[in-house]
Amino acid sequence: MTDKKKRVGILISGRGSNMMSLIAAARDPAYPAAIVCVLSNRPDAEGLRKAESAGIKARAIDHARFKNRAEFEAELDEALHEAGVELVACAGFMRLMTPGFIERWRDRMLNIHPSLLPAFPGLNTHERALAAGVRVTGCTVHVVRAEMDDGPIVAQAAVPVVDGDTAESLAARVLEAEHKLYPHALALFVSGRVQIAGEKVRGPQVSINQEKALFSPPLKGP
Ligand code: GRF
Repeated sequence: MTDKKKRVGILISGRGSNMMSLIAAARDPAYPAAIVCVLSNRPDAEGLRKAESAGIKARAIDHARFKNRAEFEAELDEALHEAGVELVACAGFMRLMTPGFIERWRDRMLNIHPSLLPAFPGLNTHERALAAGVRVTGCTVHVVRAEMDDGPIVAQAAVPVVDGDTAESLAARVLEAEHKLYPHALALFVSGRVQIAGEKVRGPQVSINQEKALFSPPLKGP
C-alpha cells in the first residue's frame, strides 16, 4: 500500500507549521501521499527539528554555502532524487527559484500562499490585505510556475477579515485555514482527482466544504 502513495518532499525555511499539517495528514493510512523528506535552505529552521521529532528525514541545505542559485538547486535536486521524491510541496520556502528548477519540477511542485491569489502575491500579505480594506482574504494552494505566487490554483479557502484585526490576528486566522487546506489540496492533486488543463486546475471532484457564500460582515448579527 505504501508504494502506491505519492512520495512527497517538503521544502521549508522556517517554523514549519504547514509542513506539520501535511505530516499529520499523511499518517492516515488512507492518505494518498507519504512525506519522505524535509529540506530547508536555512539550517536554523525550527521546522527541521519538528520534522525529525516526527520521524521524517530532515536536512538543511544552506543556500549561503553556494556560489549561485543554480548550484544550490542542483544540490536540492540531488537530495530530492535520492529520497525518491515525486512531488515537491513548498511550505514557507523563502527562496526564489530559477526557471530551470521550476521547469524540472513542472506540474510536480505545489506551494501555499496566505492570500486569495491572484490578490496579494509576495511578502507582507496580511498587512497589504488590511491596507486595502478587503473584508475577505484567505489562502491558496497552487502549482508552481516561473512567476512568484503564480500558477494553476488547486484549492482556496476564504477567511473573513474582522474589525480590529492586526496583521498578526489575521495571519493566525488564515494559518488555521492553511493547515486544513494544504493536506486537502495535496490529496486532491496526488490522487489525480484534479488535473491541470489549459493552466487551470479542473476536476469534477473538487470539493468545497461549504457551498454557500461567505459574507463578511455576516448577514445576520451575532
Ligand atoms: C505560511 O503562511 C505560508 O502560507 C507562507 O509562509 C508561511 C509559512 O508558515 N508561504 P509555516 O512555516 O508553514 O508555519
